[in-house]
Amino acid sequence: MISPGKTLGVLGGGQLGRMFAHAAERLGYRVHIYEPSTDSPAAEVSAHAVHAPYTDLAELEAFVRGCAAVTYEFENIPTGPLWQLENAAVYHPKWQVLEIAQNRLREKTWLRKNDFPHVPFAECEVGGDLAAAIRSIGLPCVVKTADFGYDGKGQLKVADEASLAKAVSSFQGHRAVVERWVDFKCELSVIVARTAAGVARSFPVAENIHTRHILDFSILPARVAPEIQDRARALAESIAERIGLVGLLAVELFLTDRGEILVNEMAPRPHNSGHWSLDACVTSQFEQHVRAVAGLPLGDVGMTAPAAVMVNILGDAWKWSGDRCVGEPDWAALLAEPRAHLHLYGKKEPRPGRKMGHFTVTAATPDAALELARRLKAAL
Ligand SMILES: Nc1ncnc2c1ncn2[C@@H]1O[C@H](COP(=O)(O)OP(=O)(O)O)[C@@H](O)[C@H]1O
Ligand SMILES: [Mg+2]
Repeated sequence: MISPGKTLGVLGGGQLGRMFAHAAERLGYRVHIYEPSTDSPAAEVSAHAVHAPYTDLAELEAFVRGCAAVTYEFENIPTGPLWQLENAAVYHPKWQVLEIAQNRLREKTWLRKNDFPHVPFAECEVGGDLAAAIRSIGLPCVVKTADFGYDGKGQLKVADEASLAKAVSSFQGHRAVVERWVDFKCELSVIVARTAAGVARSFPVAENIHTRHILDFSILPARVAPEIQDRARALAESIAERIGLVGLLAVELFLTDRGEILVNEMAPRPHNSGHWSLDACVTSQFEQHVRAVAGLPLGDVGMTAPAAVMVNILGDAWKWSGDRCVGEPDWAALLAEPRAHLHLYGKKEPRPGRKMGHFTVTAATPDAALELARRLKAAL
């Protein structure tokens, strides 16, 4: 067990690191952040921050040696340096988990090899025959770059011959994954924490609504049968066990009309669809992450309200005149609602599509919470 008072290191300095730091600091830990950019949401609220590239071995080594354990808030960290510094620190999760999750092809191959339900896919190496890979999956499908995709970046839906030709030209020079298009009933996600002793606990299942590929609303509990929720949680817990997770893992899922649950992707860190837990769960995902990494008993994951909805606040919510930002959202309108909880990440510059903050509302039912959330989002 890593006792309170010790230092926990986080690789990555975004909002997930910021909220991790809040939770860790509340439990008496010191948080050190390693983040290449000098203006980061997490550094602002942490005891110490190092700004250097992830590939700077000397800086990275000095950093990890100063921490009782190291974790991540961002999965696209080069694993080479972590592998080289494997014996310099305790890492939760281990770099091998990052390596699987940061590349779609490795992730999907791992799911297939371990017999977890996933979306049928084909791979296409750089210079490979993408058209043939697309035909092997069939239309409609979606082509995604194997590395470094997020919020729908690096993805193209292919529904006809014209979009097939476009995909072939735009993915030239990229390793790609072709996935069958899933006409899902809804998207779900489960966040699971697991300790080094092998104790795993998953949060209630979130139902997620994306708009233009970016998470817009997370609805708790998901409006699906309890049997589906149980299956989704069991699936996430068995993935965490099989992958040897210590820390936190988010599993994004598609629920099909036939009641199948397919894994879409995984992230070994706190997840946007778990932010509701800060305001409507006994233990937040961030505190659970701290507990898992420090080897403390995991916290209770019961909800403290019958239902909750989390809404992302993007830079789009600012007032724009062309591409010039001319005003901020109407925070007072949101904060006047007693059931709303506002979280802002301290990012100086709003940009369309950039995650600036979120808010969570609680209500008696998921539908009532969603209605309130939509109304408050419009009022912003
Ligand atoms: N095979 C698919 N079928 C249907 N929708 C998909 C598929 N793959 C992705 N999507 C949609 O695009 C969103 C973003 O894709 P995802 O693979 O999760 O990438 P990202 O890394 O950008 O989150 C998903 O949440 C889902 O709404
Ligand atoms: Mg996703």
